[in-house]
Amino acid sequence: MPAADLKYVLYEECVQSPDWHVRHFPRYHRWMTGRDPKRLREDFCGTSRISAEWVRSAKDRTAVGLDLDPEPLAYFARVHAPKLSPGERARVRLEQANVLRPTREKFDLIAACNFSFFVFKERETLVNYFRAARASLAPKGTLFLEMAGGEGMQEWLQEERMVRVPGVGRVRYVWDQMDYDAISAVNDYAIHFQLPSKRWLKHAFEYHWRLWGIREVREALREAGFRDTKVFWEVADSRGRGTGEYAPMENADPAHAWIAYVAGVR
Ligand SMILES: C[S@@+](CC[C@H](N)C(=O)[O-])C[C@H]1O[C@@H](n2cnc3c(N)ncnc32)[C@H](O)[C@@H]1O
Repeated sequence: MPAADLKYVLYEECVQSPDWHVRHFPRYHRWMTGRDPKRLREDFCGTSRISAEWVRSAKDRTAVGLDLDPEPLAYFARVHAPKLSPGERARVRLEQANVLRPTREKFDLIAACNFSFFVFKERETLVNYFRAARASLAPKGTLFLEMAGGEGMQEWLQEERMVRVPGVGRVRYVWDQMDYDAISAVNDYAIHFQLPSKRWLKHAFEYHWRLWGIREVREALREAGFRDTKVFWEVADSRGRGTGEYAPMENADPAHAWIAYVAGVR
C-alpha cells in the first residue's frame, strides 16, 4: 500500500460508518419533506465514502463530493472509484471546491459529516456557509449537520481502542482531546494510530474546532433562510444508555458527550 494511502485506510476503518448515513439520512429527509432524496452533495467529503455508498445504494442516486484538499480526493479516484461499477462511477463526481460557494447544480440533500463545519469559527462564516448550502438545495432540500458536544468533548483525555484493519492488522486508534480554550471555545483534537509494528503515526489528523451548540446552529440556519429545522437526538434505552437510533426531539437530558444531527429544510 502506498505510504500516502495508509492514514486514509486507517481513518476510514476506525472512524467512519458511511452505511449508517446512507440508511438514515433519507429516512429523516422523507419524514421531514415526504420526498425521496436522489441527489446528494457531500460537503467536506474527504475520501467521499458516503458518496460512494450513496451511488451504490440505488440506481437513481447521484452524488457530488466537495473538499478543499486534493489529497483525499485523489485517494477516492485511486482507491474507491475503481471498486464502483461503470454505472455507479458515472453517477458520482468529486470537486476540489470551497463549500462557502454555492454550486450551480441543485441537490435534494447536503450532508456535512464528522463535525466538519466546526472548522468555521466565526458566526458570520457559519451563516454564510448555511446560505451557500441553502442556495445549492432544490425546493424541499435538506442540509444535515453532524454535531458533537457535551462536557466530555471539552476535557483533556485520550481515548483508545484496538481496531482490526483489513490489509494492515490490529491498529491502536487514539482520539486525543488536546486542549480546550474556555474563552474562544476552540478545541484542539488529534487522531493518532499505532501500527502492528508498534510504529506511531502521531497527529495523522488534527482538528481545531469551535464547538457550536445546537440552539445557536438552529438560529443561524433560520437566519440563513431555512424555513424549518429539526434535531435528531439519540434515543436512550430504559437504563438511559444510547441505542444508536435517533429521533426528532425538542428537549433532551444533558449527556456527558453526545452526537446529534441538526437538519435545515429549505
Ligand atoms: C474532518 S474531515 C471530514 C472527512 C469526512 N467528511 C468524514 O466524515 O470523515 C474535514 C474535511 O473538510 C475539508 N474542508 C475544510 N474546510 C473546507 C471548506 N471550506 N470547503 C471544503 N472542504 C473543506 C478538509 O479538507 C477535510 O478534508
